Amino acid sequence: MVSIRHLSKTYGDRSILKDINLEVAQAEILAIMGSSGGGKTTLLRCVSGLIDATQGDIEVDGVNVRTDPDLARCRMGMVFQSSALFDFMNVEDNVMFGVTRQKKRPRSESLKIARDALKSVGLVETDYAKMPSELSGGMRKRVGMARALALNPTVMLYDEPTTGLDPITTYSIDSLVKSVRDEFNVTSLVVSHDVNSVVRIADRVAFLHSGEVIFTGTPAEFLVAPDPNIRELVEKSRASVL
Ligand SMILES: Nc1ncnc2c1ncn2[C@@H]1O[C@H](COP(=O)(O)OP(=O)(O)OP(=O)(O)O)[C@@H](O)[C@H]1O
Ligand SMILES: [Mg+2]
Repeated sequence: MVSIRHLSKTYGDRSILKDINLEVAQAEILAIMGSSGGGKTTLLRCVSGLIDATQGDIEVDGVNVRTDPDLARCRMGMVFQSSALFDFMNVEDNVMFGVTRQKKRPRSESLKIARDALKSVGLVETDYAKMPSELSGGMRKRVGMARALALNPTVMLYDEPTTGLDPITTYSIDSLVKSVRDEFNVTSLVVSHDVNSVVRIADRVAFLHSGEVIFTGTPAEFLVAPDPNIRELVEKSRASVL
């Protein structure tokens, strides 16, 4: 589980996150939505330990991310918006890279871990030798997910996993985020601006505006929340499916 208490982040004199409090239960999927520049990526980066918060506490499975970021990072898998694959390595080597760095193992064992992860995200053997430049956007996301899952995380952090994908690929990645949770029992934080995706996959939604959490609730509650920023997003997404 993930526990965020009184988290603040400032850059210089700019306050980016203000007193964020969020609890994410074991195996829950929390969607983080909000206006562009609202601080979603910054929040995910603080949780992952990639950047340090200015104030407050973050715990991941009881490990304090701010005081013990290396240990906390071992428990988390991060899927970046850009997929962040190594362009000079094929699919299998991209996944192997983290596995071999994580722990010294016989190569055959690392290879099995990497291939199991690739299989779990729906990639097939003929994909393993492909270079990132040969992959579709959806496949790149899958490789990014396999790379994170191969390290056996208890928490998965996704930054806009479906941005830039067509509706059908979006649907398949949404299903994958859910099946990864079901299969591996991972707690998941998913930054998204896609209302339809969020309604499909999230157990709960948090909405960030100007660095503050202005709403938390179920997707059904989110769809009828009175806040004008939420209404605007919900109405726009309705208009786009009409
Ligand atoms: N390293 C940094 N130094 C200074 N300011 C930063 C830094 N990273 C982010 N910011 C600022 O923090 C604010 C929040 O950025 P963030 O990337 O977290 O927003 P976001 O909600 O993810 O936006 P988007 O929906 O566009 O991805 C922005 O105003 C951004 O300019
Ligand atoms: Mg962002």
